[in-house]
Amino acid sequence: MGLLRLKLHHHHRQYCHYPKLLPKKPFLSGLLLRSHSPVHLQITHNHTTSTKKNQSFHSLSTLSITTKATMVKAIRVHELGGPEVLKWEDVEIGEPKEGEIRVKNKAIGLNFIDVYFRKGVYKASTIPFTPGMEAAGVVTAVGPGLTGRKVGDVVAYAGNPMGSYTEEQILPAEKVVTVPSSIDPTIAASVILKGMTAQFLVRRCFKVEPGHTVLVHAAAGGVGSLLCQWANALGATVIGTVSTKEKAAQAKEDGCHHVIMYKEEDFVTRVNEITSGKGVEVVYDSVGKDTLQGSLACLKPRGYMVNFGQSSGTPDPLPLSALAAKALYLTRPSLMQYTATRDELLEAAGEVFANVASGVLRVRVNHTYPLSQAAQAHADLESRKTSGSVLLIPDGN
Ligand SMILES: NC(=O)c1ccc[n+]([C@@H]2O[C@H](COP(=O)([O-])OP(=O)(O)OC[C@H]3O[C@@H](n4cnc5c(N)ncnc54)[C@H](OP(=O)(O)O)[C@@H]3O)[C@@H](O)[C@H]2O)c1
Repeated sequence: MGLLRLKLHHHHRQYCHYPKLLPKKPFLSGLLLRSHSPVHLQITHNHTTSTKKNQSFHSLSTLSITTKATMVKAIRVHELGGPEVLKWEDVEIGEPKEGEIRVKNKAIGLNFIDVYFRKGVYKASTIPFTPGMEAAGVVTAVGPGLTGRKVGDVVAYAGNPMGSYTEEQILPAEKVVTVPSSIDPTIAASVILKGMTAQFLVRRCFKVEPGHTVLVHAAAGGVGSLLCQWANALGATVIGTVSTKEKAAQAKEDGCHHVIMYKEEDFVTRVNEITSGKGVEVVYDSVGKDTLQGSLACLKPRGYMVNFGQSSGTPDPLPLSALAAKALYLTRPSLMQYTATRDELLEAAGEVFANVASGVLRVRVNHTYPLSQAAQAHADLESRKTSGSVLLIPDGN
């Protein structure tokens, strides 16, 4: 419940008990009683009227307006846990406020980070919450005074605020980027978060150059597929690890010069063989617990250990002395820190879209699920059944 100043317009007098008592001009007054959906406004107006005998009396008129709230379907998490905690529910979304827009999602990208939040590995700021950090869609409303965005724009976003597992959502306008007309919105939703991650990893965190040898774990995954293609395009020799033959075939197509089946082969031994004992300049390790120690062993002296995820679990603590023997660099980056400013966001997204449009990056949309079936999508991602990008499609689309 809140108190609001409202402008009551002339045409509202038809709803008033004593329309003649209302002044001719619009006036400001109001008490807002906000019940649950749909939104119900009740305005009680205390009005003074003059009589013939120059006496005045008070009259009370009450105006009720019922506005239509936007109800959408979304996935909500009320308790942390397995995929079964993802519930398909009705939620109410309001109008965009200053600096905000409302976006009707065409497609939503599934990411491993959604699993971390669902399980509580990363802490959501509220419970219940709507998961999801990647989507593309059409702008359906813009907040007051906003310039540079209009209804009908096709936009994509990645990262905070969390909440893309929904048919429609409110977003800060500064967090979205325009999807070029040459790129299908479903492709944009498959690549905006994963592609910008690949961008910062190969172009900024460690700059891949011709002559480098790089090791990419989970090379057939959503990020892994793009990472291998990008590193190859930059002139590196790419070594990828995968769990199955099918994933190995995909990783080869995506530019891996060497593919290691890390469930069957010891990847440290294989990297040693492939590099004739020299090691690699950089390891992009998103698997974490199961691979981190081995990854360190694969590095050249002064090599870069980039741990950017933990799909197998949080790695054990690493003493600084583990880096000393080869004078290694260690970083644990996140996309949020590499797209913190609007300029960084536009540059990263611009490079991703340009590489998609020119064919440097082939976006593999290998799995799509109705948004209502997000629990099945999570179960498949966690059990290593997926490869490439996974999309959730709002059920009406
Ligand atoms: N730091 C950042 O800013 C950032 C941004 C985006 C993503 N990420 C991280 O990048 C990684 C990839 O994300 P994604 O969404 O593209 O997922 P993904 O790579 O499509 O899926 C995870 C893959 O990890 C491999 N894996 C190895 N051990 C696993 C285990 N015990 N359980 C599950 N999977 C295991 C599997 O590939 P195989 O079957 O081939 O082993 C699986 O397909 C995640 O760790 C994610 O957190 C980080």
